[in-house]
Amino acid sequence: MNKYSLLAVSLLVSMSSFAQTKNLPAPNMQRKTLSVMETFQQRKSVREYSDKMLSDQDLADLLWAAQGKNRPDGHITAPTAMNRQEIRLYVFTAQDVSLYDPQTHTLSQVTTGDHRDIVAAGQNFTKTAPVVLVMVADMDKFGSTNQHAQWMVAVDTGIVSENINLYCAAAGLCTVPRGSMNANAIRELLGLSENQIPLINNPVGFPK
Ligand SMILES: Cc1cc2nc3c(=O)[nH]c(=O)nc-3n(C[C@H](O)[C@H](O)[C@H](O)COP(=O)(O)O)c2cc1C
Repeated sequence: MNKYSLLAVSLLVSMSSFAQTKNLPAPNMQRKTLSVMETFQQRKSVREYSDKMLSDQDLADLLWAAQGKNRPDGHITAPTAMNRQEIRLYVFTAQDVSLYDPQTHTLSQVTTGDHRDIVAAGQNFTKTAPVVLVMVADMDKFGSTNQHAQWMVAVDTGIVSENINLYCAAAGLCTVPRGSMNANAIRELLGLSENQIPLINNPVGFPK
């Protein structure tokens, strides 16, 4: 192998370690949570988080509750109009940004580094949440961009966010749904097209 082939191989190896895909633990159906009625009683917006990190199991259960696959035919925990499943769910942490795949229950790294500041957009408490979930509506996957389609994807996004709100209340985590964020910077960072629209985000952590 000459030095150019060696260089190409090492470049490929470093690129493949960059674009990692991580299997998440299966959702824990035995997790101790509040009842549905207690959950509604507890649901509230919280804007202060402790330093405690979420474990892999915590994150896996949170993402699955948000919009994980819950039936063998590929349907997910969040209903979507015409089952288009057009909401992309990104996970921002202090280490990197990843995309959740509901069908394989995996996380694929999109980029490295701490980019929570562009989601915070001035609301600094967002940067203190160990996990910030960003919901991006993919109008191409929905199949239309007309006004009715825009309403439907907004409703679908709200449902995913509410799954997160309720899961957090039930499982002893805390969160707040946020419309504020630097959508243009997020678009640029994630390489989104103009039909992929960051709509809402949920910082998630443990109570302080
Ligand atoms: C669509 C939507 C957008 C919101 N955007 C923000 C936001 O950008 N920043 C924020 O701190 N709270 C935001 N909130 C949270 C609301 O301020 C909060 O839900 C409201 O004050 C009621 O409080 P509660 O959630 O504790 O019942 C948003 C809520 C919704 C539903």
